[in-house]
Amino acid sequence: MKLVVSGKGGVGKTTFAGTMAMILAEEGRKVLAVDSDPSMNLHSALGLENPQPISGLKDLIRERTVMEGGVFRLNPRVDDIPDRFSTGRDGLRLIVMGTVERGGEGCICPETAFLKALLRHLALKKDEVLILDTEAGVEHLGRNVAERFDRMLVVCEPSEKAVETANRINTLSQEIGIREVLGVANKISTPAQEEFVRSSLDFELAGTIPFDEAVIEADMTKKPLFTYHGSAALKSIREILHRIMA
Ligand SMILES: Nc1ncnc2c1ncn2[C@@H]1O[C@H](COP(=O)(O)OP(=O)(O)O)[C@@H](O)[C@H]1O
Ligand SMILES: [Mg+2]
Repeated sequence: MKLVVSGKGGVGKTTFAGTMAMILAEEGRKVLAVDSDPSMNLHSALGLENPQPISGLKDLIRERTVMEGGVFRLNPRVDDIPDRFSTGRDGLRLIVMGTVERGGEGCICPETAFLKALLRHLALKKDEVLILDTEAGVEHLGRNVAERFDRMLVVCEPSEKAVETANRINTLSQEIGIREVLGVANKISTPAQEEFVRSSLDFELAGTIPFDEAVIEADMTKKPLFTYHGSAALKSIREILHRIMA
């Protein structure tokens, strides 16, 4: 199972992605969490240290991507990267992509080519659940990466801006070949808020996560939400996860 989590900034993507990863790992799955947001904070939802970001491996990337005469190799060697540049424990590992300058349309820089090759490689591992936490949209992934993801979960809070972004991400994702898009309504305090999100999205909801003080507390104390056993948000994330894995 390969899952991408996207949505507008601040809607709860990282909390959701990291908590799903911890639940799956606890249930005995092999989980690989990949942080592709330049702010690199997925580690806190997992209770892990950040590994060295891949985009910072300038020499290694150039060595493997740029051939003589300045030609790019589109299939650079990446198979040793997950073991060398990840943190975690048995069953739960974290890889951090880091910051890549996104040049204009059609620009290929070595870092982008390398990260795409790495994501393609990671998405091929059959026995692992891959959870990709993104900055916002996923259009930069490109078709040959996107097609390898089974599902995208678009997190959305009850606000017009979040809904607009979610619908735009849905359209772009279908264009690049992500197979199934499902919404997750987060920070919901009333039935009317849930209804607003449900009726405004152009695609189906996988579930709803309540607004929960425990999420804020977890953030302030730098502890994973997963450790807040009584949390209503944690309970909802578990339910959503089981629904989408079924
Ligand atoms: N269900 C929730 N209830 C209360 N606060 C939430 C909830 N989900 C997320 N938050 C808060 O919203 C902020 C953004 O969450 P985060 O997961 O970092 O979002 P994103 O990755 O989309 O930017 C954080 O301060 C987090 O504590
Ligand atoms: Mg985030």
